[in-house]
Amino acid sequence: MERGSFLTFEGLDGSGKTTQLRLLASLLRKAGRRVREMRQPGGTALGDQLRSLLLAESSQAPVTPRAELALLFADRAQAIAEVVDPALRAGETVLCDRWTDSTEAYQGGGRELGASMVHSLEGLICGGLRPDLTLLLLPPLQASLARARHRNARTLSQTGEEESRFEAQNDAFFERVYAAYQAIAAREPVRVVVIDGEASIEAIHRRIVEVVLHRL
Ligand code: TMP
Repeated sequence: MERGSFLTFEGLDGSGKTTQLRLLASLLRKAGRRVREMRQPGGTALGDQLRSLLLAESSQAPVTPRAELALLFADRAQAIAEVVDPALRAGETVLCDRWTDSTEAYQGGGRELGASMVHSLEGLICGGLRPDLTLLLLPPLQASLARARHRNARTLSQTGEEESRFEAQNDAFFERVYAAYQAIAAREPVRVVVIDGEASIEAIHRRIVEVVLHRL
């Protein structure tokens, strides 16, 4: 059985990556591919519990940056064993909403833990497993943030779900996240394809399809 492909979507909160992942998944399925959709944090039963711990705003039990980093890699270890590895072995195309680039951008950059701590843990936890292709959506910073904050307020009022721990960070935090993403793209121009600027959902989808058809 030929190994499947591992594609990740990255970007700031509100960059539109989740919408684009779903559009690509549906197109690939129509083309007859077996597709597994995943997200981080989450994607497994343990991961969903870790997601609630990581994303709910809790002033009573603040999570330290290193504890946050360790929880994210615990989530990833579980996701690899339970979902990603078996799916790739079965020849499926795995589309994952965020992976270790998010950790490098948010914990390495945003939380200022530095990239090398993230790379060390990646080596220990993920071994040789890295995405074959990463689509990095980088619309202008302020536009992403405005969308993310608006969406969170709406989700909270509609469902009571509170996932605003990161969006509540200040702009300087997100400037560091953005810069870390740009550094990743500059370092790995083959794996990471940057989709920048503002464009319609359809136009961005067309660009993504071009890139993916060329690579898969
Ligand atoms: P999402 O809303 O795109 O699912 O992402 C949830 C939040 O988790 C987002 O604000 C970024 C954050 N996050 C990290 O800080 N580090 C990570 O490694 C991952 C996967 C997510």
